[in-house]
Amino acid sequence: MTTESTEAATAGREGDIGPVLDVSGLDVRYGRGPRRHRALHGVSLSVAPGETVGVIGETGSGKSTLARAVLGLVPASAGSVLIDGEDVSAYGRRQWRTLRRRGVVQYVFQDPLRSLDPDLTVEDSLTEPLLVQGVTRQEATARARSFLDRVHLSGELFERLPGELSGGQRQRVAVARALVTEPRLVILDEPVSALDSANRVKVLEILKELRATGVALVLISHDLGSVAGTADRIAVLYQGELVEVGASPDVINHPRHAYTRLLVSSAPTLRTGAADRSEREALRALLNA
Ligand SMILES: Nc1ncnc2c1ncn2[C@@H]1O[C@H](COP(=O)(O)OP(=O)(O)OP(=O)(O)O)[C@@H](O)[C@H]1O
Ligand SMILES: [Mg+2]
Repeated sequence: MTTESTEAATAGREGDIGPVLDVSGLDVRYGRGPRRHRALHGVSLSVAPGETVGVIGETGSGKSTLARAVLGLVPASAGSVLIDGEDVSAYGRRQWRTLRRRGVVQYVFQDPLRSLDPDLTVEDSLTEPLLVQGVTRQEATARARSFLDRVHLSGELFERLPGELSGGQRQRVAVARALVTEPRLVILDEPVSALDSANRVKVLEILKELRATGVALVLISHDLGSVAGTADRIAVLYQGELVEVGASPDVINHPRHAYTRLLVSSAPTLRTGAADRSEREALRALLNA
């Protein structure tokens, strides 16, 4: 176990031994009658406190559906979802609101604009979830500033609206907003795919740094290369079914399912990591120039 994950394991509350997310036999169907479409079938996945799990799959494989079902935004037709040991499968709207307000689980939408209210300044976006929890304005502002710093953004952006930010800045604000309440679990749906490669590397590095706070991350992506260096484990979704779950190096070096093999073979630099690293170094040099 690395120092980082030891810290992560001790950073949480009591009762940490159990998974922070435990999805079991999840089925989700969309539509009715002949147009009924099974988007997820028998998906089981658990995430330990402080762990980062990458969920990989091609477009339409059910990644966003999994995120939405975990957060109670689409109903499941079978299976269960436990968040921090609490069975949320049968939760109504009020119970979900309470859970969200407690800030146990947060969601960063696939579209960064959806994660942020266009009429709220960066400051208001970051302080609002804290004020809802009863944190004083002074404390909320201080925490918001420190999180802006953690995502490597300047305090000068505090007064800006989302429309006045670049895509990369907006995504970092969305990440900061999701983390500001210090949740146990954050689900990020394609957090880097809308970004150029320099910003992609930056945001992934920020996510890696944020793991030290003890938060568990579910990192959804269609791109294995994007999450391979960040996730402890990788789960591969294919046509609504989870076809492979394992430690990142195992999945990359010994992919078992044909679809995973295809993913790995289409990203040849993954095997050694050498080209990947030199590319990152080149980008970092470019950024620091
Ligand atoms: N609201 C909906 N009504 C009907 N079908 C839907 C709905 N949302 C998603 N689907 C279908 O469910 C399947 C899974 O969609 P989902 O959005 O989960 O895929 P995804 O893996 O996130 O894809 P992408 O990488 O493009 O974001 C797709 O076939 C999609 O067309
Ligand atoms: Mg999606």
